[in-house]
Amino acid sequence: MPELSVVIPTFNERDNVDELIARLDRALGATAWEAIFVDDDSPDDTAQALRALAQRDPRVRCLRRLRRRGLSSACIEGMLASSANYVAVMDADLQHDPTLLPQMLGALRAGRAELVIGSRYVVGGAVGDWQEKRLAISKLATRLAGLITSQPIADPMSGYFMLQRERFEELAPRLSSMGFKILLDIVATARPPLETLELPLLFGQRHAGESKLSTNVAWEFALLLADKLIGRWVPIRFLSFAFVGALGVAVHFLVLTTLLKGFGVAFLVAQAIATGTAIVYNYTLNNVLTYVDRPRRGHRWLTGLLSFAAICSIGAIANVGVASFMFERASAWPVAALAGILVGAVWNFAVSNVYTWRR
Ligand code: GDD
Ligand code: MN
Repeated sequence: MPELSVVIPTFNERDNVDELIARLDRALGATAWEAIFVDDDSPDDTAQALRALAQRDPRVRCLRRLRRRGLSSACIEGMLASSANYVAVMDADLQHDPTLLPQMLGALRAGRAELVIGSRYVVGGAVGDWQEKRLAISKLATRLAGLITSQPIADPMSGYFMLQRERFEELAPRLSSMGFKILLDIVATARPPLETLELPLLFGQRHAGESKLSTNVAWEFALLLADKLIGRWVPIRFLSFAFVGALGVAVHFLVLTTLLKGFGVAFLVAQAIATGTAIVYNYTLNNVLTYVDRPRRGHRWLTGLLSFAAICSIGAIANVGVASFMFERASAWPVAALAGILVGAVWNFAVSNVYTWRR
């Protein structure tokens, strides 16, 4: 039975996995280990490459997830598939030096820590040839991360770490599981804090392929922070949904005034066009922001839009119904209007959450 499971999330990493396994084999020597890859249905057929690898090497396994995206959730599901004493997470692209694994394992075995991090920001560690801008952003994010961790950690954004599987199992149900920052999620969730050790990591060059870090990363990071800070009281997806909706109101008014003042369109027609635009806009943005982990694509994008529009129409009826009910019972008009908006928003969110973006 393996003592160590190495969990490796992959998205388009076909040309890296053979080399990675070869290096793991060399680095880990006599240790009983296994590799659990979690692939989000990569278009480059990484899963197929992994299966070919697994047929030659029984230590290799691939979980293939369909219609899902997300580095954190992939790592979590990989770790949950492990029965080993220790689990590690590392990138597939060889930026994380496998020769650090025996040291990490040694520290855990000796009881010197419950969590060991490959850290770029301790003495001896480094980020390699990053551009100044990326370094500055990383440093800023690290400072912000300090808001939600209960212990000082030099590199809570590292994607390379190892911990006791049992400790992970305990906290797994409370993880946010959103975004790219699985380690930060773990250290912000653990109460009491995990005994942590940081080992210096020289962050290497990507072997093949390209980085998946996109502009979404900043948004997903913000969601994770918000979830840890206020998620206990308000579901974070609802906040995101409401944020998108507020922008949608601005879009509505922009279209409405343009049509009314700029083109002299009749009010009813202008209002209808503005409403339609706002619905498409809301749907599109929610699909990439609020539901970044399970966006609808291809023909499912279109059917999703139709269901979202239908749900919002009912929401609008509820909105107007509640607002006029309150208005007739002598509420001030802004109060009545806000109550209507709130009821409509909650309806739209609750129903589209389970229907349009169902799991
Ligand atoms: N399953 C799955 N799903 N895997 C993913 C996804 C996804 O949506 N997105 C990325 N991956 C995999 C990649 O295939 C790679 O193996 C690993 O996650 C890291 O992705 P990279 O694209 O190589 O990220 P990076 O090198 O820019 O950033 C890494 O280093 C940062 C600094 O240490 C990540 O580990 C970050 O989390 C980390 O903060
Ligand atoms: Mn990388």
